[in-house]
Amino acid sequence: MIHKTLKPFPKDFLWGASTSAYQVEGANLEDGKGPSCQDVKKVPEGTSDLTVCADHYHHYKEDIALMAEMGFKSYRFSIAWTRILPQGTGEVNPKGIEFYNNLINECLKYNIEPIVTMFHFDMPAALDQRGSWSNRESIDWFVNFAKVMFENFGDRVKYWLTINEQNMLTLVGPVIGTLTIPEGCTNELKEIYQQNHHMLVAQAKAMALCHEMLPDAKIGPAPNISLVYPASCKPEDVLAAQNYNAVRNWLYLDMAVYGVYNNLVWAWLEEHDATPDFGEGDAEALKNGHPDFIGFNYYNTATCEWEDGTVECDSAADQQTARGETGMFKGFKNPYLPTTEFGWEIDPMGFRATIREMYSRYRLPLLVTENGLGAYDTLTEDGKVHDAYRIEYLRKHIEQIRLAISDGCEMLGYNPWSAIDLISTHEGMKKRYGFIYVDRDEFELRTLKRYRKDSFYWYKKVIASNGEDLTD
Ligand code: BG6
Repeated sequence: MIHKTLKPFPKDFLWGASTSAYQVEGANLEDGKGPSCQDVKKVPEGTSDLTVCADHYHHYKEDIALMAEMGFKSYRFSIAWTRILPQGTGEVNPKGIEFYNNLINECLKYNIEPIVTMFHFDMPAALDQRGSWSNRESIDWFVNFAKVMFENFGDRVKYWLTINEQNMLTLVGPVIGTLTIPEGCTNELKEIYQQNHHMLVAQAKAMALCHEMLPDAKIGPAPNISLVYPASCKPEDVLAAQNYNAVRNWLYLDMAVYGVYNNLVWAWLEEHDATPDFGEGDAEALKNGHPDFIGFNYYNTATCEWEDGTVECDSAADQQTARGETGMFKGFKNPYLPTTEFGWEIDPMGFRATIREMYSRYRLPLLVTENGLGAYDTLTEDGKVHDAYRIEYLRKHIEQIRLAISDGCEMLGYNPWSAIDLISTHEGMKKRYGFIYVDRDEFELRTLKRYRKDSFYWYKKVIASNGEDLTD
């Protein structure tokens, strides 16, 4: 659709950016915090561990002041489960509560809306030892953690996100260091989808609890959504794209919004004797959890082709690279799209297509909780970072949001990844995303001083003009 006039961004649009606790905070075992699965995992060769990260734990005041200088209306961060409940259940750690109280209050001081992710890839190590999400008790563990958060922070936090990228936990858990498979498991697919089921029930119960305890708050899921294109107009490829869309995207949103399993995914799991077992009350709980909005992370689209069941597909890719599932679909490199230095395709127009598709399927307001460019940045001798490539990426994506708004989609905000440099899920510190540069290397901590990148000044102007001025 070519619009003659573009609609403006809503006046209360939440311009901000995102981080997650285990990637930005550091202080990983300080002030009573227990270890999470991220603290005990073996990090990929050549990448930093997660002990210091950007040291946001000690620099949060300075960091929030910089976000305020950019004019942020929102800051999306996650709460580390093990800072609040070091063992995952049981005793609450007062120092953990104090830290997030301070962080929230610091945001509010500058009128920055805190958007809290309840769980971002950091299962308490103590609960990992008890089977993690494979254990049905994980539903209660999570709901208890949610209750502690609502009790302590619910008077000030109005936007909650349940589980960051549950679809990536399910599809590429080993890459981000989160998958635990119990010993003796004979059907890994079933085990993974049983874990997924527990997460879905936990999410639904947390949404219901939020509405009960905090009637004025809003809560939603935060999957990673990439619209899947067929590699060609061959009908087989179209079916393959439908399959991948179902497995990657719609399973999570159909469940969050409608409380039902996507039929294609269910049929595929049946074929593999891998449908999850429902516990007592699960079906009802799933029906009772209603999101107020959909939070979603978007980096690019995916493309796939037909797979006739004869090729052993390699499913061990990362969040954004093509994968396959024998008899369902096979990843395909889209020849029309450029890639980042780290090999992820770049598709701003696909952002609009993804938003349109999601909005027409679910008719809920949409909040962008991640989007951004991971790149090698260089700090010049005079303390500058000339990241024109990032500005270009963000500009093109913001343009597409405006087009999607003009298409009639309801958008709540844009919180790209990431507010400040942090450690990537599996590619270390060298893959930077922030508007704010942190002076540290992969292994050398240096000064940890903060520097404003060129994108910092650019984004400030974008926010000040409510998205009207995207020029350099
Ligand atoms: C998302 C995650 O998958 O993408 C973030 O929610 C992550 O935690 C971001 O950092 C970028 O991915 P990566 O692998 O480049 O860090």
